[in-house]
Amino acid sequence: YTSKRYSVKRGDFSCLEDRDIVFFKHLLDKNRVLTDPFDLEKYNVDWLKTVRGKSACVLKPRTTKEVSEIMRYCNEKKLAVVPQGGNTGLVGGSVPVFDEIVLSTELMTRFRISENNPAVVIAQAGCVLEKLDTALNQHNLMVPLDLGAKGSCHIGGNVSTNAGGVRVLRYRNLHGSVLGLEAVLADGTIFNGLSTNLKDNSGYDLRHLFIGSEGTLGVVTRVAILCSLRPKSVTTCLLAVPDFESLLKVFVVAKQRLGEIMSACEFMDSDSVACAKRNLGIEPPIQSRLYALLETHGMDSNHDEEKVDGFINQVMKEGLITDGILTSEPSKMKKLWEIRERLAEALRKEGYTYKYDVSLPFASFYKIVEVMRKRLPKTVITCCGYGHLGDNNLHFNVTTKEFDPTVLTRIEPFLYEYTKRCFGSISAEHGIGFKKRNYLYYSKNPAFVHMMAETKRTLDPNGILNPYKVLPDFEA
Ligand code: FAD
Ligand code: MLT
Ligand code: ZN
Repeated sequence: YTSKRYSVKRGDFSCLEDRDIVFFKHLLDKNRVLTDPFDLEKYNVDWLKTVRGKSACVLKPRTTKEVSEIMRYCNEKKLAVVPQGGNTGLVGGSVPVFDEIVLSTELMTRFRISENNPAVVIAQAGCVLEKLDTALNQHNLMVPLDLGAKGSCHIGGNVSTNAGGVRVLRYRNLHGSVLGLEAVLADGTIFNGLSTNLKDNSGYDLRHLFIGSEGTLGVVTRVAILCSLRPKSVTTCLLAVPDFESLLKVFVVAKQRLGEIMSACEFMDSDSVACAKRNLGIEPPIQSRLYALLETHGMDSNHDEEKVDGFINQVMKEGLITDGILTSEPSKMKKLWEIRERLAEALRKEGYTYKYDVSLPFASFYKIVEVMRKRLPKTVITCCGYGHLGDNNLHFNVTTKEFDPTVLTRIEPFLYEYTKRCFGSISAEHGIGFKKRNYLYYSKNPAFVHMMAETKRTLDPNGILNPYKVLPDFEA
């Protein structure tokens, strides 16, 4: 179990008793209270299969009221609870560490377009991102968020992690597009902040407390998301780029030539791509040391084509690329995106993934991957870099056949010290969760962490909501 590998001590919470199960079965119905160890397995293990808890109970509410009743009861009884969406989180935040009850949003799947604002969708937390996006198609809208886990992750999980993804550079993050939300606090109180107003300066903007707080301050039950119009013209291009300096120049030219239509600017190195080929049998149609994957979203294909042509001509003229593929055909675009989006899956197949998600200035961005290659032992299978170049977000990944503590100590805290020296962030988008909580001080000063802890104590005095997550074990 996780607690052994990470030497963490169980909090002073109650242990689940038969009478608690009786209460939950009475509140929900017995199909929505899972206690069979076989059924519980998938809720106890994270997507990376690197952390595991031993919860004896999963609850599946359908309504905010049910969530509220569950939390009120758990707070009175001092039972710890982990909110869980699609369980695709990458920092061990979504699974129990010990025997916490799992509150799954799986059955909270309703949504509607707001009556007040036709560009706003009001969705229950358990809506799967891709399903929601597909359903919005008929309204000519799209969710302004796209990530590789879209087929499984829930919108409530996305909001609770402030998920980034591949289109942040165009549509910004969820602090911008979530106009309002509803959440249930640890004691069952329903926080109703489900505003659909574009502007609202009446009082503290408390919704932001729940965006990115990873289930430690409340259970997000509904969200009001400002959607974007679905683009009429989409283009994707994969470019072969010889070195990182050229890659940065490609990005600059893209900003200048594509301007407002650029919707993604991703990158991958050849080690990432080799891993995808080895483990998933997928590979790009062009070969290179580095790849840029760009996308445009626009409303007028003639206008967009002209811009894309101007961009391609300039990067070719300046000798920044050695090859490239450009397409607007949906199936071909999908194939190009697949390589980038399935890298996490390809890495996972190699055994244990040491996964990092840092914000770094460009001057120090790819250098760390090269430094790490020299630091790591030969037992490492893959050491690679990819990520959201347009957001200064590097995904640095290492794999070994099995978990190897010596590899971990070569990476941590070295990488975090490097990140701090560069004034970056130890988490650009995945969050802190369980795995990174004791490294928080590399990104936040003691006064900041103290204020976080005070906020937690105010909203959840018994500390029952997602314990052992986000906040460090000690206050500096
Ligand atoms: P979970 O994994 O179930 O939970 C994540 C955290 O949120 C946990 O701390 C949990 O307790 C909390 N939580 C979940 N639901 C609620 C709720 N309703 N109320 C309160 N707390 C809640 N992340 C990115 O940012 N960008 C990416 O590009 C990206 N790509 C990914 C690609 C793959 C293949 C995978 C596997 C993951 C990727 N992720 C990415 C990470 C992950 O998908 C996101 O963090 C996602 O937002 C998690 O959603 P989820 O529903 O799976 O949440
Ligand atoms: C991605 O951008 O692919 C995700 O954040 C997952 C990962 O970092 O592997
Ligand atoms: Zn990412």
